[in-house]
Amino acid sequence: MTDLQDRRVRVGVLGAGPIAQAAHLEACRKAANAELYALCDAAEDVLEAVAAAHQPRVTLADYDRMLADPHLDAVIVAIADQFHVPMALKAIGAGKHVLVEKPMGVNVEECEALVSAVAESGLVLQVGTMRRFDPNIAYARDFIAERIGDVLAMRVWYCDSTYRHQMTDAVQPLVHAANAPLRPEGNPKGDRRRYYLLGHASHLVDLAQFLCGQIVSVRTQLVEKYGAFTWFVSTEFADGSIGHLDLTMSVRMDWFEGFHVYGEHGSVVARAFQPWYLRSAEIECFSTADGGYHRPLGADGHFFRRQVEGFAHTILTGAAQAGADAREGLAVVRTLVAIDRSLSTGHTVKLADVAGAV
Ligand SMILES: NC(=O)c1ccc[n+]([C@@H]2O[C@H](COP(=O)([O-])OP(=O)(O)OC[C@H]3O[C@@H](n4cnc5c(N)ncnc54)[C@H](O)[C@@H]3O)[C@@H](O)[C@H]2O)c1
Repeated sequence: MTDLQDRRVRVGVLGAGPIAQAAHLEACRKAANAELYALCDAAEDVLEAVAAAHQPRVTLADYDRMLADPHLDAVIVAIADQFHVPMALKAIGAGKHVLVEKPMGVNVEECEALVSAVAESGLVLQVGTMRRFDPNIAYARDFIAERIGDVLAMRVWYCDSTYRHQMTDAVQPLVHAANAPLRPEGNPKGDRRRYYLLGHASHLVDLAQFLCGQIVSVRTQLVEKYGAFTWFVSTEFADGSIGHLDLTMSVRMDWFEGFHVYGEHGSVVARAFQPWYLRSAEIECFSTADGGYHRPLGADGHFFRRQVEGFAHTILTGAAQAGADAREGLAVVRTLVAIDRSLSTGHTVKLADVAGAV
């Protein structure tokens, strides 16, 4: 397809913050079809420390300079949510493919603009939906599409654990902190409800649409007690099935994430683990055709590396994208806005009717 076909995709990572250090840099270095070519961070202390550990060919404090490099093929946008769309648009404008962290953006209009820019460019844009690259979740998705027939209903839950930091500290590499990282004005993470929707419900909603297709409407309930929040969201899907989404921040027990899907000829039950363990989800897929449960091992659970490999594979071969594309990234942001609007109005909200910011 292109001259890229015989070589690795040269990736530049924008942002040397926690997610780059814990996931993307190692993922690029381990990927079979990509290489960590460049690293860019405006905070020179963290740039220097992280570059020393990961040895990109090029280090820069200036994003425009990174984009001007003709050897660079693609960018991973690993910076604060509010910066995603402007920096992804810059990369597309410079002719670079983009893997942008979730959520794709923070309002419907900027995401629509990005969808248009990507469509016009012919470049690949993938949203950081790494759970799709858990081999067992991918297996479950195929099983749902191919083996269980018409879907009746699904439930999906994402319940963070109050012990999360203890758990991640035990397994993540030491993270270098910048003295003055480039962050959005104010403190967007200070608004807990908004931050939990953008940062966490984005995973939950993408998983629901990955498994069961387009969500068309939502109705939300929220309870807040003792500093903990639960959103229960009733959803309708385009195929007429219904869903129940549970975002809880946080449960007083282990990380709790999974889903159930009920179809005409079978069902799927899944439990996913704290993501930093890189352990594939436990999946049981039942089929009435053989009366049996199917339970894959999923030995390679490095979904961050697999995510980069999937992205590079699409760039190199033109293969269909396994990660969320710009249109699906927009659908997630629309769903998050609809969840919020349903809460303020007390009504069911159609995704087609929403505008504005989460
Ligand atoms: N997939 C996941 O499970 C997962 C987990 C954690 C975070 N994330 C996402 O990753 C993103 C980044 O999170 P983080 O905690 O690493 O962010 P952060 O803000 O702590 O770090 C970002 C770094 O990028 C740098 N930076 C920002 N804009 C820049 C620019 N224009 N030019 C040069 N440098 C720039 C900052 O100086 C900072 O060092 C967020 O969108 C978050 O939602 C995803």
